[in-house]
Amino acid sequence: AGGVIFSNRVHFPRTSRRLPQAIIIGVRKCGTRALLEMLALHPRVQKAAGEVHFFDRDDNYRRGLEWYRRKMPHSFRGQITIEKSPSYFVTPEVPERIRAMNASLKLLLIVREPVTRAISDYTQLRSHAATASSSSMVNSPQRSFEQLAIRPDGSVNLAYRPLAISLYHTFLLRWLEVFQRPQILIVNGDLLIEDPVPQLHRIEKFLGLEPRIGRHNFYFNHTKGFFCLRNETADKCLRESKGRRHPRVDPTVITKLRRFFGEHNQRFYDLVGEDMGWPE
Ligand code: A3P
Repeated sequence: AGGVIFSNRVHFPRTSRRLPQAIIIGVRKCGTRALLEMLALHPRVQKAAGEVHFFDRDDNYRRGLEWYRRKMPHSFRGQITIEKSPSYFVTPEVPERIRAMNASLKLLLIVREPVTRAISDYTQLRSHAATASSSSMVNSPQRSFEQLAIRPDGSVNLAYRPLAISLYHTFLLRWLEVFQRPQILIVNGDLLIEDPVPQLHRIEKFLGLEPRIGRHNFYFNHTKGFFCLRNETADKCLRESKGRRHPRVDPTVITKLRRFFGEHNQRFYDLVGEDMGWPE
């Protein structure tokens, strides 16, 4: 009611598309979608649909800020616009490009225990490969996580992208060269899965929002094994591709990887000034 038809969409008077004031920059498979959907439960948050990939894809970036702004949702003055594109975190050009748009923008970086993240990444890549090969009727043999992560000589295979992406400190360095540390909030993705409300309170505070997201916005769905979301206008679980069952990984491989990541995790803790308490 009261909506106006404008460029094929209903929107309300006094709204406009605005550049984001906060961006979820990654890390992929750490709960970037869950985080965006959860924040959008807040009456003062508007989220961009899909992943915009403005800063990481040259062909998009060349289209300019006006193109980017048009990808944003309508918002009222006083609302915060947020987008998420997880590949921003690992793309070298992105920090400087974001700074050029808005040097005081707020950045949200969601992380997860790195070995779990790598297995989640493997699970997603494998599921995409299975879809591709079934549609082209090619039977590609699938390599196990263990084969991809550990070389025949027993060393950790950092050439395997899901492991390299879990070396968070290597990517974070560039962001800290461009942005002030207080502009970046580190969100613990494992805690967001277990109990979202306390994490969301921290984020509301960081974004300068009054605390509005609470227990009433969540209910645990035992079939899915995750929290689902609701507010006055929406009631939803994330899609099946979020919360996939992970394959069983040889525990000795997990132990080896956790040990390997120990010193890298420490470097990440030193950079952010927070201990995430990941197992070694
Ligand atoms: P898994 O599918 O490996 O469990 P991203 O959106 O960045 O790709 O992250 C996907 C991850 O979000 C999922 O990884 C899942 O663990 C996590 N997640 C966090 N909260 C969730 C929720 N409420 N419902 C579904 N998945 C959630």
